[in-house]
Order: sequence, then C-alpha cells, then structure tokens
Amino acid sequence: MQMTNNRKGIVLAGGSGSRLYPLTLAVTKQLMPVYDKPMIYYPISVLMLSNIQDIAIITTKNYLSNFKNLLGSGSQFGVNFEYFVQEKPAGLAEAFLITEKFINKEPVCLILGDNIFYGQGLKDKILPANDRKEGATIFGYQVENPSRFGVVEFDNNGKAISLEEKPDIPKSNFAITGLYYYDNEVIEIAKSIKPSARGELEITDVNNEYLNRNKLKVEDFGRGFAWLDMGTHDSLLEASQFIKTIEQQQGLKVGCLEEIGYRNGWITLNNLVQSGESLKHTSYGKYIIKITSSL
Ligand code: TTP
Repeated sequence: MQMTNNRKGIVLAGGSGSRLYPLTLAVTKQLMPVYDKPMIYYPISVLMLSNIQDIAIITTKNYLSNFKNLLGSGSQFGVNFEYFVQEKPAGLAEAFLITEKFINKEPVCLILGDNIFYGQGLKDKILPANDRKEGATIFGYQVENPSRFGVVEFDNNGKAISLEEKPDIPKSNFAITGLYYYDNEVIEIAKSIKPSARGELEITDVNNEYLNRNKLKVEDFGRGFAWLDMGTHDSLLEASQFIKTIEQQQGLKVGCLEEIGYRNGWITLNNLVQSGESLKHTSYGKYIIKITSSL
C-alpha cells in the first residue's frame, strides 16, 4: 500500500566529529561503518519508518559528493533525497534555516546523523508524533550521564517542566534524544533564537520556545529500548557490536533501507530483487535476496 505523508525529513550529518579524531580527520563520521552499513543508514531508516519520503541530507561541503555517491537520488529506496551544505557547525537548529525552502509550509522531522534508535514499539512512538499536526514532539531517554545532553525535567504527572542544555547539575536522568518532530512554526522559532555562549543555534532553545508556548510533548522511550549516539570511539564500537548481536540473533537486519522501502510500498519486488542481486556477494545483499524469496 502506498503511504503518503507531507512531513519533510532532515538528517543532520555535518559537524566536525572532533571527538573521533584521528578517525574523522579525513572521513566524515556519518559515513563510518557501523557493523555492515554506513552510519547514516540508521537515522534514514527511522525517517522511513515514520513514513517520510522527502528527506534533506545536510553535510559539510567537503563530504557532499561522498554522500551523493552513497545515497544518490534515493529512488533505490523509494525516497527523494535533497542535499544541503552547512558551512560550519553552527548548531542543530541551523538545520531549519538551511532547509527553509525545502520544508516550505510542511511539518518536519529532524534526526541526527549519528543516532541509532532501536526497539520494539519504535513505530508506536514515532507514528503518533508524525500524525500530530501541531506543536513539537521530542523523546526522553534515561541515561547514566545526563550532563552530556539536553536534559528534561518532568513533574509528578510526567509533564515536561524544564529543558536545559548540558547542565552541570542535571535536574533528572532523562536526556533528550536526537529525534525531533515539529510543526512549521519551527522555522520562525529557529530564526528568532540567538547563538548560545558556545556560538551555536541550540535545539534546546527551540524546544524551550515550544515549552513556553505550551506546545511541547516529551515522550519517554522507556527502558526496553536502545538509543545510541556514536560520537566517541567507545560508543562507535559498541554500536557495531550491538547491531551485530541483534542481526545475528534474529536473522533480521536493522536499517536495511531497501527492505523498509519495499514494506512501505515505495519500491516494487522487482526493484528489491535487483538491489539484492547487485550486492549479492555481501551479507547485506544476501539478506535482501533471502527476504525476497519469503515475500
Ligand atoms: P555532535 O556530536 O554534537 O557534534 P560533532 O558531530 O561535530 O562531534 P564532536 O562533538 O565530536 O566534534 O553532533 C551531533 C550530530 O549533529 C552529528 O551527526 C553532527 C551533526 N551536527 C551538524 O550537522 N551540524 C552542527 O552544527 C552540529 C553541532 C552537529
């Protein structure tokens, strides 16, 4: 069945990746391997699972051609990619200024290019966020070291009451993950915020504006769920190990974009077979061939 959705997607895949030096001195973080596929496949898969077909990829100038070589027009997955350059890492909220024309009058979903979301019930969380026409939906996740992230404080009824970016003394253990659903007001809000002390347009300031307007919904991903960001050497390795474990236990791939495109009704079985054949000497291609025989 063909699913339609006017919400635009953005994968933010710029940044400097300085915590991964020397790995990222000559290669961008979001093209690093995470077990059997490039990192950026995972956030793209989340947008596709959210039924989003029009996807902006924001990269630095240096790596634009690498991303285009990898992902092309997106037709092989049944999506449309458009490419944008962020001149310097001036903050996550700059994404909405760079893609203003692309977003046009529609709602939008931003995902960070170095984030993995995995777990049963992912669609149950993201599809309602996608369907919400007004306001913003963001997601909290309990972590050991919240000071590294945006942190949300909840009242006794589970309602978000404060948001702080990388606080020294966090008010809770709930980090804000790198997946954000906004209505079209996000463009106007991103234009109105000022750079922070570290010179970035902070996504936390955007979210705080939605909170002030009483239009922010913060959902908890819960404990049976994995959220990994791959910004450090340890987390990059752990992500590969995590994906390998899940895929080998279940015999199912995480983030196989051709599979999701087919299941969404965006490509044909014939397209899927062709993709599998073109990669047939790899475990990725063999997997696609295996699923086509069971469809
Ligand atoms: P970060 O991990 O906060 O920043 P970074 O990737 O530059 O890494 P480091 O801290 O090691 O220097 O960024 C999270 C994601 O957002 C990542 O996918 C890069 C992306 N990003 C941009 O595309 N533009 C930006 O201005 C920033 C700050 C991040």
